[in-house]
Amino acid sequence: MMSLYALFYFFIFISFSTSAAAPQPHVVFIMADDYGWYDVGYHGSEIKTPHLDSLSASGVRLENYYVQPICTPSRNQLMTGRYQIHTGMQHSIIWPCQPYCVPLNETFLPHLMKKSGYSTHMVGKWHLGMYMKDCLPTRRGFDSFFGYLTGSEDYFTHTHCAMVSTNLSRCALDFREGEEVTNAYKGSYSTELFSERATSIIQTHNPKQPLFLYVALQAVHAPLQVPMRYLSPYGFIKDHNRRMYAGMVSAMDEAVGNITAALKQSGLWENTVLVFSTDNGGQTMTGGSNWPLRGRKLTLWEGGIRGVGFVAGPLIKQPGSVSHELIHISDWLPTLVALAGGRTNTTKPLDGFNVWSTISEGHASPRLELLHNIDPLFEDHYPCEGNGGNLTLAQTDSGKSWTYSGFNISFHAAIRWSNWKLLTGNPGCGAWFPRPEQNTSSILDMRPLKPVMLFDIDKDPQERNEVSAKFPTVVEYLLGRLAVYQKQALPIIYPDNDPRCDPGPAGAWGPWA
Ligand SMILES: *[C@@H]1O[C@H](CO)[C@@H](O)[C@H](O)[C@H]1NC(C)=O
Ligand SMILES: *[C@@H]1O[C@H](CO)[C@@H](O)[C@H](O)[C@H]1NC(C)=O
Ligand SMILES: *[C@@H]1O[C@H](CO)[C@@H](O)[C@H](O)[C@H]1NC(C)=O
Ligand SMILES: *[C@@H]1O[C@H](CO)[C@@H](O)[C@H](O)[C@H]1NC(C)=O
Ligand SMILES: *[C@@H]1O[C@H](CO)[C@@H](O)[C@H](O)[C@H]1NC(C)=O
Ligand SMILES: *[C@@H]1O[C@H](CO)[C@@H](O)[C@H](O)[C@H]1NC(C)=O
Ligand SMILES: *[C@@H]1O[C@H](CO)[C@@H](O)[C@H](O)[C@H]1NC(C)=O
Repeated sequence: MMSLYALFYFFIFISFSTSAAAPQPHVVFIMADDYGWYDVGYHGSEIKTPHLDSLSASGVRLENYYVQPICTPSRNQLMTGRYQIHTGMQHSIIWPCQPYCVPLNETFLPHLMKKSGYSTHMVGKWHLGMYMKDCLPTRRGFDSFFGYLTGSEDYFTHTHCAMVSTNLSRCALDFREGEEVTNAYKGSYSTELFSERATSIIQTHNPKQPLFLYVALQAVHAPLQVPMRYLSPYGFIKDHNRRMYAGMVSAMDEAVGNITAALKQSGLWENTVLVFSTDNGGQTMTGGSNWPLRGRKLTLWEGGIRGVGFVAGPLIKQPGSVSHELIHISDWLPTLVALAGGRTNTTKPLDGFNVWSTISEGHASPRLELLHNIDPLFEDHYPCEGNGGNLTLAQTDSGKSWTYSGFNISFHAAIRWSNWKLLTGNPGCGAWFPRPEQNTSSILDMRPLKPVMLFDIDKDPQERNEVSAKFPTVVEYLLGRLAVYQKQALPIIYPDNDPRCDPGPAGAWGPWA
């Protein structure tokens, strides 16, 4: 009898202590760069991704998950939980010599995690501005930083080439340990370098303190560089770019496998939420594929913004499920801060939602609408090969006014509401690129674009049937929503290059102001 009572009280004690002081989960966020929809095994790719496949199968695959079409904007929204129109960063990426960063009056995710008692570490690519020291990751909430500050760079030498002014291009080192420049890792392939560093952070972490680890891999952005050993399974891929890219994906898959293994070996895994996300769609010019989706990186078509993403870890209540609920990259901040037991009442108004019960338990997403972007300065620097980028605005417009329902339809913009997606202006290259290794004779199915286009994404995820003429009320409603958002938009921050950025022949990219 005694022992039964003891057991009874023991259980009471256990349930009390766990519910009273729910342990804060460790959060590991792995971001891939330019990783396309068709480049993961579980979407049918010819590229082998055993670790991503099994890890996501043990968690929740997010199949209606959106990111931004390019790098800085996705990372910006991840860090702030806010749309680009609300930070003045609706246009393009931050080029190395532009003197700006995500406004310093924005609160970053790691800062909020730190306030909740987390140890916060970042490994990999920043790309959120660095012209002055206050913009650096270590000043925006990360206890440690190991990686690079700009966009693409060489995977081995860690140098980045950029225009300093109209007549000067500079190639210089971009690699830092904390805030200090280091050339100690020259020759190491960054996918291995970053996974090794992430692994060692995990192995030396004090398990009593909650960990927030952000691993922003360089993989699988161009340039196409990969150690030979990752290429060996891909002799069957004839296209050179695709073969190199496949090898890079294999290295990335192994990196994720190593990081997960380290979490398991260190015992942290039992209390870890792991998120994997791409930053934007694949770049077809450098081996990526978003088949069967339309468009690619840099465009507002699904191929640019519907992202590969999943969540794994033992805290998920319905492991092994697939979510078709609408989720966006701006949702991670409120979701992860809530998991950390933190508060978001000190940030500016968020555009993201806490989607944890959607992910973990399959509840309906609190998100009904998603502003993909409004960028009045958009210029199509990467039109489709051939003629797919030509926009014939005059076709449906009388020429009197570009403004409908209060919104200027010459602006590059897109908005999603429930199953509907409305696009205005030039969304960027709208080709349906063929499946890799398939007959390319039907390659670019060119159709003239219209200034206002409506698609039923649930029924038509490939954006083949433009239905604006059939649903004028939906069109009017969504143009009105775009007008409301555009009224809230901050003036675009996009300064000219400051030649003082020049690191000189022997220096490194970094703060100059
Ligand atoms: C935050 O900074 C941005 C960019 O400098 C500025 O446009 C905005 O007005 C600021 N917001 C507040 C609330 O200070
Ligand atoms: C580069 O161009 C600027 C003006 O555009 C000029 O002042 C400068 O002398 C030029 N520098 C060189 C090295 O040609
Ligand atoms: C994964 O770990 C193995 C064993 O330590 C190592 O040989 C390999 O290089 C690692 N891969 C990556 C991508 O870091
Ligand atoms: C945020 O919420 C907490 C708890 O409700 C409260 O104590 C705190 O004062 C709030 N902070 C602000 C800035 O509203
Ligand atoms: C697209 O525009 C280019 C440049 O203006 C022009 O040469 C080409 O003929 C156009 N293609 C179509 C299909 O209109
Ligand atoms: C709409 O935007 C275009 C391009 O920015 C501009 O040229 C035009 O004047 C605008 N139209 C109206 C009515 O504001
Ligand atoms: C490619 O498609 C064309 C036209 O449909 C067909 O004639 C040809 O045999 C196909 N080639 C291959 C390699 O499948």
